[in-house]
Amino acid sequence: MDIIYSIKLNKEKEEYLYKQLYNEIKKLILDNMLKAEVKLPPIRKLSQALNVNNVTVVNAYKLLEQNGYVYKKVGSGTFVKGLDIKENKKNLTNNSNIINFADASPTPDLFPVEEFKLVLNDVLDRDKGNAFGYQEIQGYSDLRNSIKNYINKYGINTKKDSIQIVSGAQQGIDIISKTLIDYGDIVFTESPTYTGAIAAFKSRSARIIEVPILNDGIDIKTLENKLLNFRPKFIYVMPNFQNPTGYSYSNYKKEKLLELANKYNTLIIEDDYLSELSFTSKKNTTLKTLDRNDKVIYIKSFSKIFMPGLRLGFAIIPDSLSRDVLSAKHTSDISTSGLIQRAFNLYLKKNKWEKHLIEMEAIYKKRYRTMQECIEKYLPNEIKYSEPKGGLNFWFSLPDGYLSEKLYLLCKDKDILFIPGSNFYVKKKYSKYFRLSIASVSNKNIEKGMKMLSEIIEKFLKDPKNKNLTEDYKTLI
Ligand SMILES: Cc1ncc(COP(=O)(O)O)c(C=O)c1O
Repeated sequence: MDIIYSIKLNKEKEEYLYKQLYNEIKKLILDNMLKAEVKLPPIRKLSQALNVNNVTVVNAYKLLEQNGYVYKKVGSGTFVKGLDIKENKKNLTNNSNIINFADASPTPDLFPVEEFKLVLNDVLDRDKGNAFGYQEIQGYSDLRNSIKNYINKYGINTKKDSIQIVSGAQQGIDIISKTLIDYGDIVFTESPTYTGAIAAFKSRSARIIEVPILNDGIDIKTLENKLLNFRPKFIYVMPNFQNPTGYSYSNYKKEKLLELANKYNTLIIEDDYLSELSFTSKKNTTLKTLDRNDKVIYIKSFSKIFMPGLRLGFAIIPDSLSRDVLSAKHTSDISTSGLIQRAFNLYLKKNKWEKHLIEMEAIYKKRYRTMQECIEKYLPNEIKYSEPKGGLNFWFSLPDGYLSEKLYLLCKDKDILFIPGSNFYVKKKYSKYFRLSIASVSNKNIEKGMKMLSEIIEKFLKDPKNKNLTEDYKTLI
């Protein structure tokens, strides 16, 4: 058993220490270095030996127990279980080699599962069957109150009754579309923009007018020209770390956008899917913070920094629309899961959210830096991009005449994934742009992936078959 004391944990690594410890002990068990019925060291002794907190060892042991590697004997300690070693070895080596710059969601190893389990259990003990009834359509009252207090810290002053809980920001976009868009109505979006929003607007048969986004926000001149000619139901924007470009609006442009919405009497939908994740400055004020005339419908997602599968988000709805939105929410799914709302409320109230945010910020900041270094080190100079100030996305451009959809096929063959630009436009089939996300790629794989991607790009740019193509190109192969 002394071998356990020689385990080395790396505090610099982004993986939680308890997870590292869990993996190390699991490996010893699978390698038969810790045999069935061996007793694991007492918690305090191991934590002292490894120079970690007691909680780290407690959590590692808990996870080992949950996953069937050890068992507890009351009063005597924790013991290794007999295992079907072969089966488990097989699972361990089944890892995929794909480097996924396409996925913009965090990976399950970053989810605070243990912490969330505790609040879920607390809710079940406290509320029992009530946690499983239909929740109010507008959302669990105490959660709306907690959210009101939380966003107040970001300078958003709103009433608890203006908050509508939704089953993810996508549903927020969808029910607002249902509320506001009639057949053939016009809506404005940034160009490029979030694919899920395009799909929601199309599903309501809206006519979408795209306004280019520049690296300091929407192109105000074009926007005003279009507003002179069209009356949109709303303008859909992501003012901080836009998806897919990563661009953020300057304060001037935020104010200007609000001014234009007032002047032309249109609403704005602000999709705040990520404003917490700033790496360079704290200038990521939301539009809602600056909104003095109740022109902004604010939608907040928790997916990118928390757990996308919870399906939880909220919207701030102007009074004049609240009844219609409530009705649209009701026809969508009656209400968002009461159990999840109650558990998340407790998570907020116990200040676990703030702690989680700090951890995620640290992890993503490191990845962001690695990405910047790799761009400097490996990427050919012909590839252009504008450095994002936060968030998870990097938006690159190939030289004119090259199409990212072609590059995508070559990279996919080598197990590197990204999203070609055409996905983010209403009609384009091809584009010279492409998006890389650091959300689900470890530092090590960012380095490996960017090196490989750069080599592929160098070859790609040299091949005459890839040159002088236009966006109406017919076949990729
Ligand atoms: C800009 C943007 N808005 C909304 C969503 C959807 O978020 P949710 O998971 O909260 O529905 C996404 C997800 O990718 C997104 O990128």
